[in-house]
Amino acid sequence: MDHEKARERIEELRKVLWENSRKYYVENAPTMSDFDFDALMHELESLENAYPDLLTPDSPTQRVGSDLERGFAQYPHRYPMLSLGNTYNIGEIEDFARRAGKELGDASFTYSCELKFDGTAICLTYRNGRLFRALTRGDGVVGDDVTANVLRISNIPAVLSGTGWPEEFEIRGEILMPYESFDRLNKERLDNEEAPFANPRNAASGSLKLLDPEEVGRRGLMCTLYHIPAQSIAFDTHSEALDAAASWGLPVSDERRVVDGIEGIEEYIRYWDVQRKYLPFATDGIVIKINELAWQNALGYTAKSPRWAVAFKFQAEEALTRLLSIDYQVGRTGAVTPVANLEPVQLAGTVVKRATLNNEDFIAQMDIRVGDTVKVIKGGEIIPKIIDVDLKSRPADAVAPVFPSVCPDCGTPLVKEEGEAKRFCPNSDGCPTQIKGKLLHFLGRKAMNVLAGEATVDQMYDLGLVKTPADFYALDTQKLLMLSGWKEKSARRFLQSLDASRSVGFDRVLFALGIRYVGETTAKELAKHFGDIDSLASASYDELRSIRDVGDVIAKSVCEYFQDDRHKELIDRLRHAGLQFSMEAGSDASDALAGKTIVISGNFSIPREEMKKLIEMNGGKNSSSVSGKTSYLLAGSKPGPEKIKKAGELGVRIITEEELMQMLPSRNDSRNDGFPASETEPTLF
Ligand code: IVH
Repeated sequence: MDHEKARERIEELRKVLWENSRKYYVENAPTMSDFDFDALMHELESLENAYPDLLTPDSPTQRVGSDLERGFAQYPHRYPMLSLGNTYNIGEIEDFARRAGKELGDASFTYSCELKFDGTAICLTYRNGRLFRALTRGDGVVGDDVTANVLRISNIPAVLSGTGWPEEFEIRGEILMPYESFDRLNKERLDNEEAPFANPRNAASGSLKLLDPEEVGRRGLMCTLYHIPAQSIAFDTHSEALDAAASWGLPVSDERRVVDGIEGIEEYIRYWDVQRKYLPFATDGIVIKINELAWQNALGYTAKSPRWAVAFKFQAEEALTRLLSIDYQVGRTGAVTPVANLEPVQLAGTVVKRATLNNEDFIAQMDIRVGDTVKVIKGGEIIPKIIDVDLKSRPADAVAPVFPSVCPDCGTPLVKEEGEAKRFCPNSDGCPTQIKGKLLHFLGRKAMNVLAGEATVDQMYDLGLVKTPADFYALDTQKLLMLSGWKEKSARRFLQSLDASRSVGFDRVLFALGIRYVGETTAKELAKHFGDIDSLASASYDELRSIRDVGDVIAKSVCEYFQDDRHKELIDRLRHAGLQFSMEAGSDASDALAGKTIVISGNFSIPREEMKKLIEMNGGKNSSSVSGKTSYLLAGSKPGPEKIKKAGELGVRIITEEELMQMLPSRNDSRNDGFPASETEPTLF
């Protein structure tokens, strides 16, 4: 390649890499796979090596991506937060070991092999045994101060235990979202027709950057720490420093191993390439570090990464299969989503038959046709994704899909609004799928918490018993007995549950209304800010925008909702039915548990999530493990024996559900009626 061509290619690569870096770090919505990103970065690196005069300090090879955002105070890092050199090729790990050996002469040294945790980097500073500050990586030099959020992550101690910690030191690691929390969060987001997070890593960094620490606490994040800058501690080896950190109560991984040669490294890689599938959180490779701090020091750093460590990355799990057909699903807000039906294929431990195709632009850009062989990935995502199509093996009879121009359910012509990637069915109060979706959402566990499943709601609608949520409150036993299989008892239970929903707090009623883009958290914010529905309904766009986390899209959607006469009528009818439309009246909230940290264990008369919410609603804090900071261990039936033992050892008071209820202001609770909570949740696919 001549000099001019190299210059052009370098410019091109830098542009693509910067853009993707921004999408990855700031928007938490990457558009390129890690593998492709790393490949382009390597190409840029080798071009810059070949043409050193073209290397500039602002090149993406010289800087780490930036996650800095408005809304947070920023502080400089004491030591820059660097990235790691990485490879997908075991030969390059051997090169790394050889190079290190050569540079260190005859000195004997060992390697610390660790998991490469796939989350978002964090830097914690402890001063006099207390968490002083938590900074994100930022641009590597300056980070966002997320201390308030980090304090809500249950395995990060605010105060150290043990002895021997330095007066002040930094420790770095990763904030992760375990698969369980990730699946729950994305289910909620899909329920609310919000875009799901692409993977646990984006969900973790998006959650860490929320402006509401309470919500961060609810996201179920965890932390694992893996690096203490050598300047701030006096140990000989990295592994000893981490062992000490563990003894101070800091979360350090148990999966670390110290090995003394390339064979040991390879064995560790082989083991974790398989075993990592059973970990409860995402990892994307292995990190190999020279263990002796003196040798780390001798090897030093490049502008971007340490010379004493390297990452071996695993390829994301993917599979090839055939695209058999495409379904077009209508959601409760009318958005139409294409979903691929695939020839069943084994992927990351499950059989995949369906995958999302995002929207029609995606299908067109990728030129995906029915009959094509497509590449599907599943890297911790609940919904597998199609990421590529094999054009070479396209059969002659492959058919380009035609996105429906009318609603697959009610036949109304679909509309595409400006700036929206999706087409919508505008027939919001005539399209059966949308209506049923809205009704089901209204009754949902996180909304009015009325006990009825999808099949029941479908039947009620098909029999003409309900068309809007207000119709539920006009149901009586006689009408309910029209439902197949329903007896006096089931009708009574349903009516009781409906009655209990009259005391559900205003924030949840607001969420139940199903205003587009108003999820659970936004509903809470709006309820808190305005206090009642009339103030909210008359709020201007600007007033809405002034609220934390309310952007242009939400503000517009709320304004539009309250301008619609059909919605005004619905709210009037619900108000007459006795629902709560202001914060003061009937709100379940109290501060009876303020300052109390509660660990729950075992089964209760209400689902565990409900119990946790109840604790939070009354000012308490949930924690997953018993420690000296725990106020009560709330034990249901079959509690975990370790938790009971630990509570006994630490003198933590164990309370029963009944005792907890006595601590709360008296409430109208008829939730305990034996229905499984999942009955009210719609099926995803
Ligand atoms: S050590 C000076 N150890 O991966 C470098 N990093 O892609 C200190 N990461 O920037 C980093 N697991 O955010 C280290 N066991 C581990 C890691 C790890 C994940 C992250 C870290 C790093 C990135 C590079």
